[in-house]
Amino acid sequence: MCVSKAGRLVVLVSGSGTNLQALLDASADPSYGARVVAVGADREGIEGLDRATRANVPTFVEKLGDYATRAEWDAAIAAKIAAYEPDLVVSAGFMKILGTPTLDAFPVLNTHPALLPSFPGAHGVRDALAHGVKVTGCTVMLADEGVDTGPIVAQAAVPVLADDDEAVLHERIKVVERRLLVETVGRMAREGWTVSGRTVRIGNHTGGEST
Ligand code: GRF
Repeated sequence: MCVSKAGRLVVLVSGSGTNLQALLDASADPSYGARVVAVGADREGIEGLDRATRANVPTFVEKLGDYATRAEWDAAIAAKIAAYEPDLVVSAGFMKILGTPTLDAFPVLNTHPALLPSFPGAHGVRDALAHGVKVTGCTVMLADEGVDTGPIVAQAAVPVLADDDEAVLHERIKVVERRLLVETVGRMAREGWTVSGRTVRIGNHTGGEST
């Protein structure tokens, strides 16, 4: 089993990009071990792209509607990502499922505002609230072809308070989510990681398994 490392990050966004900003801020310190080499999006006019531009990080946009088929978009965004030779692709609020051209070429990390496997999909916060859970949280996982189904790398819990609505709860989760994402990406970059079935381990573990 080989230990992957992640120095060069391509981050994908669809919205405000506060998770991206947290990665940009962390990687300003060389000892963090990773840096954002490009930011991609599936739409124009979003704050996430402006954050990249302000940080002098190159950007690219691939809109699904510009392609006749999903397969063509999958190939186009994979080619754009590949041009920056990432060690790790981070889907940080990117509202598209990546296809095999990207997933087969690069490890992809995804962040989700719920404790998977509960409440996957685009409305994880709303669904958790509607279910009446008292604790929710966020999950950082390796992406596969499913919707939030990949191997879990890290999770953190967040309490649900009595007066929460979706927006308030999501903001409370995002404070924890940004911290978890920055810590997880940094550790993966500095220590490497291994995947065995659904189990992800960060760091070079001895103890039976060769790495
Ligand atoms: C995050 O909570 C992410 O998990 C979800 O959308 C939010 C994106 O926030 N899919 P931002 O764009 O990083 O501010």
